[in-house]
Amino acid sequence: MGFAFREFVVLIGLLSVLASATPAVNAGQASDDANAHKDPCAAIGGKTWVAPKDVRACYKSVKVDPKIKSNIIEVVNKTLAFHISTNYQIKAPAPFQYDVHEDLMADVAKISHTNYASEYDFHIALSRAVARLDDAMFMNYVPLPLNLLVDSQGKQDVYIAKEAFSIASAEFGDQISFWQNALPGKLKGQLASLSGAKIIAINGRPPFDSVNANAAISGSYEGLGTRQSAYFSSYRRTPRGWNYVLGKFAEQGLPLDDQVTLTILRTNQTRPDVVTIPYRSKLGLNSVPFNDTSSWRDGNCVALPDTNGRDYYAPPLSKDPSSVSPVQKFQQQPHLTPSKQQHHLDVILDNSPPTDFALPQELTPSLPLLDGSWGVTQFYMLEDGKTGVMVLGSFEDGEYESFLDNMLEGLTNLKQQNATRLIVDMTNNGGGWTCAAAYLHRIISGPKSTVEPQAILDTKTRAGPLAKLLVKAAISGIDPDHAMMYNPHGRTNANNTPFAADEDWLKNTVDLTINGRKDSFSQRLGRECTSYDYPTQPPDEALFDGKQVAIVSNGRCASSCALFQVVMAKREGSKTVVVGGKQDITQQYCGTVGGQSTDFSGIDSEIKVCLFFARYTSLLVNGVLGVTWRLAFGVENTQEPEEWQSHPADLNLLLTPQLVNNPVAIWKEVASRVFN
Ligand SMILES: *[C@@H]1O[C@H](CO)[C@@H](O)[C@H](O)[C@H]1NC(C)=O
Ligand SMILES: *[C@@H]1O[C@H](CO)[C@@H](O)[C@H](O)[C@H]1NC(C)=O
Ligand SMILES: *[C@@H]1O[C@H](CO)[C@@H](O)[C@H](O)[C@H]1NC(C)=O
Ligand SMILES: *[C@@H]1O[C@H](CO)[C@@H](O)[C@H](O)[C@H]1NC(C)=O
Repeated sequence: MGFAFREFVVLIGLLSVLASATPAVNAGQASDDANAHKDPCAAIGGKTWVAPKDVRACYKSVKVDPKIKSNIIEVVNKTLAFHISTNYQIKAPAPFQYDVHEDLMADVAKISHTNYASEYDFHIALSRAVARLDDAMFMNYVPLPLNLLVDSQGKQDVYIAKEAFSIASAEFGDQISFWQNALPGKLKGQLASLSGAKIIAINGRPPFDSVNANAAISGSYEGLGTRQSAYFSSYRRTPRGWNYVLGKFAEQGLPLDDQVTLTILRTNQTRPDVVTIPYRSKLGLNSVPFNDTSSWRDGNCVALPDTNGRDYYAPPLSKDPSSVSPVQKFQQQPHLTPSKQQHHLDVILDNSPPTDFALPQELTPSLPLLDGSWGVTQFYMLEDGKTGVMVLGSFEDGEYESFLDNMLEGLTNLKQQNATRLIVDMTNNGGGWTCAAAYLHRIISGPKSTVEPQAILDTKTRAGPLAKLLVKAAISGIDPDHAMMYNPHGRTNANNTPFAADEDWLKNTVDLTINGRKDSFSQRLGRECTSYDYPTQPPDEALFDGKQVAIVSNGRCASSCALFQVVMAKREGSKTVVVGGKQDITQQYCGTVGGQSTDFSGIDSEIKVCLFFARYTSLLVNGVLGVTWRLAFGVENTQEPEEWQSHPADLNLLLTPQLVNNPVAIWKEVASRVFN
């Protein structure tokens, strides 16, 4: 197909709208058996594994509380004024005009006037429109992660992963026997024999009907190819090790499906088998265990201290230092403590929280690790003696300073080992610190005109009435520590000249009409990072020739990861490789670019620093609303956002049974295909 598909609503997400509303059944005293059967939530309370229909019964038993609904609508409506893409998302410019589009303001108005049978239905309507984000109290599983593979004739089909049974045995424990017993006839107890089977049909339809149905409701990343790929399993480097990502067939964030019927051709068999296998719901990692409706609501649904913003100058909240804030649950990135978050972030919120399944031993890289490797950052030298590999699972992990220093140490080591070519594996990298992306571009490419003074992309922010007041407040002296995003400190104009401490930088706006709606933006903002942002000064010379750099991912590379990949590809001529995409679909090498992200609590904090806005609405429920606060300008069309400029990958590396989810095998293949 000649055009790429993209979807818009991305950095916006709303979690657990499921709130402290009115339980249909008062289950306050449901601990005795007589009441338990009347409370659908007591039926699943205290259990780890349950049937998806029982989870839905619990969710649907709660009616919409009009007070909660109007609170959520008000917060979403007000916060969208700070989301820079709202009007762009109504209809994208070419070549994305055929894409899924979203008129967020119209959606919110429609939802506010619609009556929903239950809070669950309201949650789905809101999260699909505003966020395409799933709730994830329970994760819904079948033990059959899928792959999209080509056979020796080059024919691409869907398969059950060959490692499916070993993953399921390692991660699902005694639940395996449930699935073993659910298999029909002679396959009963033979779950292992399904591993590696070719999928002929899913629910009686061609497999891609199911893949595309999921792509239509799964947001987070934009291109159709990338949303299709989300169905399949993949790997991801996390701070603690190599993870196996099941993919959205085997793992759903909502209790959507009760079972799936697969027509499969098992390895070495000549006749297909038809198997119906149930989904099972498991209490999510971040969910607070509960016994009944009231303990579910109290533990999981009411606003937490971090749900709303806070005045940065107020005494810190006393809370459990290990607790995870609502927004962090949905960032596919390591969790940072708030004191470490002063550096600008550009991070995506995925539509379900990350899980922590281990990549099987036989697929885990066993090459010697080079110094500089730490957490999500890993360095290896391939056996050809020429190709260095840098793995970067995220653009934030641990301390900002050591994160940047590790990148420099590892790349310097590769160079000293005589690497002349570099593979950067950014599979499932959802972004992080923008200046880490700038630094990586700078240390690879040296101090050239494509890097100095702006190593990533110029940006703009939205200039609504409240935003303009926040700048006026920030320059009035109420923000001596420069804690506010609206403080001019550290920002530069289009000529890369720093703003004065009292510069009212949103005073003169750039007024545009976008998709028929009037909108106001800031002046163009220049240089993102200065030497002040770099703990160690970058070397005077390039470490690698940009044309000898290949960036590899499954297309799920967003925010700061996308910023880095865009400047490497479009300014330095680096090669881009998407792994495992559908053959006949243009594969975008990155997802949402953004510029700088925040969320409702970040906006609310800005407002709370300025005490005269103290009456801004607080969210009553434990929700998250992501916001793209700045939007990056393009490399090729410098006057329009990079977001809607095409990013076709140079190579769609089709996966074979030998390559799939095997990072080292993929790097060797990339080295031989891209550099020769
Ligand atoms: C959103 O806010 C605008 C501006 O205050 C208002 O006109 C509109 O009615 C609100 N929409 C909803 C759905 O509340
Ligand atoms: C399939 O057949 C081949 C050749 O006989 C054999 O080596 C292999 O182990 C078989 N695989 C399975 C899963 O039965
Ligand atoms: C659930 O019930 C048990 C037994 O009554 C009790 O010990 C536990 O604290 C309860 N848990 C919650 C989350 O209410
Ligand atoms: C790198 O190249 C230099 C110069 O040719 C050589 O002395 C050195 O042994 C090489 N290092 C490695 C690790 O191969």
